[in-house]
Amino acid sequence: MAKKTSILSLQDKKARGEPITMITAYDYPSALAAERAGIDSILVGDSLGMVVLGYDSTVPVTMDEMIHHCKAVRRGAERAYLIGDMPFMSYQADVAEAVRNAGRFLKEAGMDAVKLEGGREVAPAIEAITRAGMSVVGHIGLTPQSVAKIGGYLVQGATANDAQRLLDDAFAVQDAGAVMVVLEKVPDRVAARISRKLRIPTIGIGAGLGCDGQVLVLHDMLGIFDRFTPRFVKRYAEVMKEMERGLSAYREDVEQRRFPDCEHSFPIDDAEWAAWAGSRDGSGAADEESAWHGQLIGC
Ligand code: KIV
Repeated sequence: MAKKTSILSLQDKKARGEPITMITAYDYPSALAAERAGIDSILVGDSLGMVVLGYDSTVPVTMDEMIHHCKAVRRGAERAYLIGDMPFMSYQADVAEAVRNAGRFLKEAGMDAVKLEGGREVAPAIEAITRAGMSVVGHIGLTPQSVAKIGGYLVQGATANDAQRLLDDAFAVQDAGAVMVVLEKVPDRVAARISRKLRIPTIGIGAGLGCDGQVLVLHDMLGIFDRFTPRFVKRYAEVMKEMERGLSAYREDVEQRRFPDCEHSFPIDDAEWAAWAGSRDGSGAADEESAWHGQLIGC
C-alpha cells in the first residue's frame, strides 16, 4: 500500500516547486478514483450541497451531511491527504463550537484537516482549532458561503486595494496557524504574488498557474454537474452524457425485451426442469417456457 500523504509532504512539494494536486470527492467510488489517479489530496467540499444534493448554494449544508460524506470518502482513500469542509454556521458564531465541530471531522470521519472560509475574521477560530491539535486549511478570495454578502460569484482581489486586503487576509490565516490556503477566483498575478509571499502552500481554483497547487470540483471537471460551468473549470470528461447514454440504452433494452439475455441469466439443468415442470408444483411452467409475451424463455 502507498505511503499516507502528510501535510509535511505537501509543504515539501511547495519547497521543491512541485505542483500539489487536489480534487473534491464526496463518496467511496470518487475517492477510489482519485486515489488510483494519484491525486495528492482530496477535499470533501461543501460544494456537495450543489453538485450532489441539488441545493441552490452551499449555505444549507449541515454538519451531519458533511460527516456522512467524509466517512464514505475515508473508506475509499487510504493514501491521499483528506480535508473536510466546515459548513456554513459550523464555525462562525462561536470559537468553542468551531473546535467541537472540527473535532467531529477528525474523530468521526477520519479526516486529516478541516477547511474553513474567510480571512482575518476567522483567525480566532483557526487559532483555536489549531491549538486543539488539528490542522486547518484556509479559504480566501471568493468564499461561496458568503455569496449573498459578496453579491455574486465574482472575481476577488481585482483592484489594488482588494488585492492588498487579500494578501493581508492570507497572512492573517497563515499567522493563525493554517497549514495551506485555498485561493478562489483571484486574478492570476495577484494569486502568484500571494503564493510567493506565503510560507504555506496556496491551492488555486480559478487563480491561475502561479499557485502552489490546484483544486477543481470533481463533478464540474468530469461533466457530471452540467447546470452551469464556471469559466475556470476545464472539462476532462463528459460523464453525465455517458450516464444518460447508458441509461437510455438500458431502458430501450428492457422495453424491447433484449435484457436480460442468456449471458445475464441463470439456466436450470434440462433434466431438473423436465422433472419440475411435469410435477404438480411446477404445473403451467412448461407453458411459460415456450411463450412469454411471444418470446422463448430458457437459456
Ligand atoms: O466546497 C468546495 O468544493 C470548495 C472548493 C471549491 C475549493 O471549497
